[in-house]
Amino acid sequence: MRKKVTVVGAGNVGATTAQRVHGLGYADVVLVDVVEDLPQGKALDMLESGPVVGSDASITGSNDYEATADSDLVIITAGIARKPGMSRDDLLLTNMKIVGAVTSQVAAHSPNCIIIVVTNPLDPMVQHAYEVSGFPRERVFGMAGILDTSRFRTFIAQELGVSGEDVQAYVLGSHGDDMVPLVRYTTVGGIPISELLPQDTIDRLVKRARQGGGEIVALLKAGSAYYAPSAAITQMAEAVLLDRKRILPCCAYLDGEYGIEGLYVGVPVKLGAGGLEQIIEISLTDEERAALDKSAANTREMVEVMRKAVAAGG
Ligand code: APR
Repeated sequence: MRKKVTVVGAGNVGATTAQRVHGLGYADVVLVDVVEDLPQGKALDMLESGPVVGSDASITGSNDYEATADSDLVIITAGIARKPGMSRDDLLLTNMKIVGAVTSQVAAHSPNCIIIVVTNPLDPMVQHAYEVSGFPRERVFGMAGILDTSRFRTFIAQELGVSGEDVQAYVLGSHGDDMVPLVRYTTVGGIPISELLPQDTIDRLVKRARQGGGEIVALLKAGSAYYAPSAAITQMAEAVLLDRKRILPCCAYLDGEYGIEGLYVGVPVKLGAGGLEQIIEISLTDEERAALDKSAANTREMVEVMRKAVAAGG
């Protein structure tokens, strides 16, 4: 029997993710959205691509959660996308309500599922989903680091004229302008990047990667990135569905690791059938440590804003 994957939110990120997962062929997909007929229409369109792309997996659309029952994996992309000039923080309370409502439905209908949160601002949204679901941390984590590193890898590959697949990179910290690219751990075919590019070029590429989401928003004018995000989500989904034990940067709940307690932060993890199977701790320089702490402090501030809103009945 095929695994069952639910994608909540049939907008740009959700629909492209559903398309990619359905295209893998080994998981059935349910696409959910509040907009009437939208997920049904998109799912039927994707189903009709099956004979051509070689996927026999089923894909259906729904406006409620009955159809999602007993999913193995649920990907939450529901929310309002960032508009030009809008910071991720502006989205905080609106998307908190959406992610909270979606998560309670998901937890009620698929009590054993693994949840991947994608909605921005990512780190506090994953924290909220974790708290609302009551699931263990192994089964609730977020997608950001793979996208951030994929942008960084792309720019390095372009600069050097090499395959992006041969560029390995890691980022720590929250998704956004204060993410922490780990330049020391960035290699090209195993060779440290510092051997191949001058520092000022590396700094320029780091800056572009940090602002990568905003660069796309400015170009698209309406909406934010979705092709690279859906590719990153699919890589995480595949690691779980096929128990691949991939080592990937994801947004995970830290319980003392990296000296951080009770907070979702982007770190390298091992992903497999059990979800987040291990948090990998690496040594940091003082500068990296300070950047990580700053990024975690920003997330903690947003979590506090959310807690206050919840306490005030918001
Ligand atoms: N339940 C289900 N779907 C919802 C809900 C809800 N409560 N609220 C909103 N949605 C749906 C919308 O109807 C819309 O179809 O979520 C979808 C969001 O799609 P887009 O506006 O196209 O946004 P998208 O680009 O897909 O981004 C979604 O992912 O990367 C992040 O920052 C991005 O937070 C944003 C999210």
